[in-house]
Amino acid sequence: MPETLTTSTPDEQDLLFRLLRQLDAAPDASQRATAAALGISLGRLNTLLRSAAEGGLITVSARPGPDKRQRFAYSLTTRGAAEKVRLTDQFLARKLAEYNALHAELTGSASGLPPLKHRTHPMQSNLAPIPELYVSYESAQKLKVEAADLVSWDLTPRQICDLELLMNGGFNPLKGFLSQADYDGVVENMRLTDGTLWPMPINLDVSEDFASKLEAGQDIALRDQEGVILATMTVTDNWVPNKAREAEKVFGADDDAHPAVNYLHNTAGKVYLGGPVTGIQQPVHYDFRGRRDTPNELRAYFRKLGWNKVVAFQTRNPLHRAHQELTFRAAREAQANLLIHPVVGMTKPGDVDHFTRVRCYEAVLDKYPAATTTMSLLNLAMRMAGPREAVWHGLIRKNHGCTHFIVGRDHAGPGKNSAGEDFYGPYDAQELFRAYEEEIGLKMVDFKHMVYVQERAQYEPNDEIEDRDNVTILNISGTELRRRLAEGLEIPEWFSFPEVVAELRKTKPPRAEQGFTVFFTGFSGSGKSTIANALMVKLMEMGGRPVTLLDGDIVRKNLSSELGFSKEHRDLNIRRIGYVASEITKNGGIAICAPIAPYATTRRAVREDVEQFGAFVEVHVATSIEECERRDRKGLYKLAREGKIKEFTGISDPYDVPQNAELVVETENVDVDNCAHQVLLKLESMGLIKA
Ligand code: PPS
Repeated sequence: MPETLTTSTPDEQDLLFRLLRQLDAAPDASQRATAAALGISLGRLNTLLRSAAEGGLITVSARPGPDKRQRFAYSLTTRGAAEKVRLTDQFLARKLAEYNALHAELTGSASGLPPLKHRTHPMQSNLAPIPELYVSYESAQKLKVEAADLVSWDLTPRQICDLELLMNGGFNPLKGFLSQADYDGVVENMRLTDGTLWPMPINLDVSEDFASKLEAGQDIALRDQEGVILATMTVTDNWVPNKAREAEKVFGADDDAHPAVNYLHNTAGKVYLGGPVTGIQQPVHYDFRGRRDTPNELRAYFRKLGWNKVVAFQTRNPLHRAHQELTFRAAREAQANLLIHPVVGMTKPGDVDHFTRVRCYEAVLDKYPAATTTMSLLNLAMRMAGPREAVWHGLIRKNHGCTHFIVGRDHAGPGKNSAGEDFYGPYDAQELFRAYEEEIGLKMVDFKHMVYVQERAQYEPNDEIEDRDNVTILNISGTELRRRLAEGLEIPEWFSFPEVVAELRKTKPPRAEQGFTVFFTGFSGSGKSTIANALMVKLMEMGGRPVTLLDGDIVRKNLSSELGFSKEHRDLNIRRIGYVASEITKNGGIAICAPIAPYATTRRAVREDVEQFGAFVEVHVATSIEECERRDRKGLYKLAREGKIKEFTGISDPYDVPQNAELVVETENVDVDNCAHQVLLKLESMGLIKA
């Protein structure tokens, strides 16, 4: 700290106090206005600002815009805020002493005012409450009734996550969804228009149709998926964003292999809305309620326990021994308490579901000393934006009362791009965080990759092992772990805790115990149903999993009786079959489907539905149309040729031949038993049934 700030006179300290107070209250005011408010010259103000900036009390950032007098914006750093609190106390204590002296002089007696320290307990700035966007309970009741008449937007799952953190202060200082100007600044250089650091666009994406009905300044109601009104929003901005630019700038590449870019182009609405939000109620969670905390709840908890330094660990994966070692080391290094802060909102597609993860975390939590560590669940929708995401995570953890944040290797990494290369370097996130550490107001505890050293029976940072030629270094990658789980192979104790492995095995049993779907496709009369029936019987004979047959004719009788054979109706029919098959697969059963399913795009959609939960085995029953017509078991081909049945597959309606089926079976001159056996062999080679 410069000499002027530490050895200054009471008057100079008062002036510094008034300056900090003024900058905090009106950070955007011109220098002239600030000087006038303090009653000093512009020259004096400049000297003061310079020394406050040098002392790390304020940050100065350039403001774009034509007005020369407002070229800079000033904001208090964490140290500045703490200094302001200290000076406030000092100022009040002096004023109280002066008052007491005056009182005694005028009345001859003491004033009776209690000493200051009994009246105020200055809180550490990371533990003081932060602003939320909720109105009071009474106002919320009134607002809810009024909002029922507003145009309403049904929030998507990601928007619900964003809204929750906006309302509870997790995204402080945002007061709502970003305006267009703020969005532009955030995309371009990670700054809001007032210069505040904010790396992630938080917008309400909606359809063109919905946006076209809104007027500037209109209030809308924001509802969850059950129709409950969570907030209202005043729509100040309504624009069509340049998504390709957003992808390039925020995620580093306009490449759909990045989950957030894929979301941006294929799920998010075309139009963005911006404007302040008024919070009515928190989104409702029925799961793990006791483990969810708002920023203010966590701050209060830390205050109560006297946890002045807290290091946060962000995670979207189950914790194994390497993570525990890393968090222990971080807490030791920062001399801080530990907050395990897993994300349970939205993570990377394909991640272990949060129910399983939380059960795993609870098992690991028992292995930490109780008085030093706690866990809280964060309903964040991650974007997997690597470096920018790390900065964002830091700001969010600061809002949750933490003072330190762990950034490891490949923080919030999205995996490989479409050329098979990593989107970001393994330590890019640490570098960006380091560059903004002061402004984020949170210290980074950085970690390199942890590996297990067998001879010493402990985890060590990979790059700190000096005798690496003489020791055995062990590591199991995420892919290898998934393979071992899928095949029911051993997972060693040095890698994870038995309780965690047991939980993971329950959710992800070996493939031979998981559900799956066999999906036959082919012309009418190709032999689908006959093979499917034979397969069903063989699988039932093996036992172990329930088997359901969704044959074309059966489905049309029980599920799709109102449907015909137009493209639209066939699609609907197949999507219904896909939905039922995915539910059966999810619940560990075997679904055998045997519709014609003539369109490739619909088959692909069903595959995606099922593959969320288990394997999808497409079997093309490749009997030629000539052979099917020759067999004409139901006499339908004859009627189709006579034009008595319209849109008949292969005759008057198309059939897209599958290009990447798991198996193609020929039925001409091959008996049914053999065809079913071919399918069984395929299932066995995929590990879905035991040999
Ligand atoms: S689709 O396209 O997948 O929805 O068809 P699907 O539900 O499997 O068809 C079931 C049976 O309906 C008979 N049928 C027709 N098939 C094709 N085109 C037309 N226009 C048609 N009209 C009736 C046909 O016998 C199908 O029986 P399968 O089981 O395939 O022999």
